[in-house]
Amino acid sequence: MQLSHIQEFVHQKMDGDVTGHDYWHAQRVVNLAVGLYQQEQIQDEIDNQEMLILAAYLHDTIDDKLVGDPNQAIVEVKSLLGQEGISEVNQAEILYIIEHMSFSANLGQKQPLSLVGQCVQDADRLDAIGAIGIARAFAYGGAHKQVIYDPEIQPIEIQDKSAYRNHPSTSINHFYEKLLKLKDLMNTQAGRHEAIRRTDYMQKFLQEFKDEIV
Ligand code: ADP
Ligand code: NI
Repeated sequence: MQLSHIQEFVHQKMDGDVTGHDYWHAQRVVNLAVGLYQQEQIQDEIDNQEMLILAAYLHDTIDDKLVGDPNQAIVEVKSLLGQEGISEVNQAEILYIIEHMSFSANLGQKQPLSLVGQCVQDADRLDAIGAIGIARAFAYGGAHKQVIYDPEIQPIEIQDKSAYRNHPSTSINHFYEKLLKLKDLMNTQAGRHEAIRRTDYMQKFLQEFKDEIV
């Protein structure tokens, strides 16, 4: 397996994205996931770090927000992994993780994930919160023509994927609808610890935002 081939594929799929899902989001998720996995690995009988790195790089390349045809994207990911000599079993595990780890896929029913999957999911959630999470939320909001803040639109309790994607919201409401909740959904201890720290930072930002409205 040559990592540069995977990185090229991710560049090709994600470069130019202005919704917070660019190549460097994938790279940060790789770095965070490796850190979490190394702290948790004692529980994993065999070293699955290569699989973890692949799943982290590829996690958004089949997302319907980014690619026009997710089924076609899955075919491309499988073919890439095959060319890189990844076994059928590991290909299936990587595909399973990236198809089941998203916030929306877990609304209503939590999807079971391996330790590798749990670390990649935690890493993706960490990149959605804290200072980076704040930047990404407003970038996403702007790209989707969503207003920053509107005192007449209240946050709602998100129950399912279609409500999550389709209800009229604001970027500030997105913190209450999703981002502040992520710390309680973390799988790993190290991930939870970092999520609490990043959430404190978002709370301070939201307080300051409110205080500035006169
Ligand atoms: P997942 O891929 O886990 O289902 P999303 O793709 O919906 O989650 O969200 C990815 C990131 O995009 C979020 O963490 C957030 O930063 C941003 N995002 C998604 N929906 C919104 C929204 N309505 N307003 C602002 N940011 C959003
Ligand atoms: Ni992601």
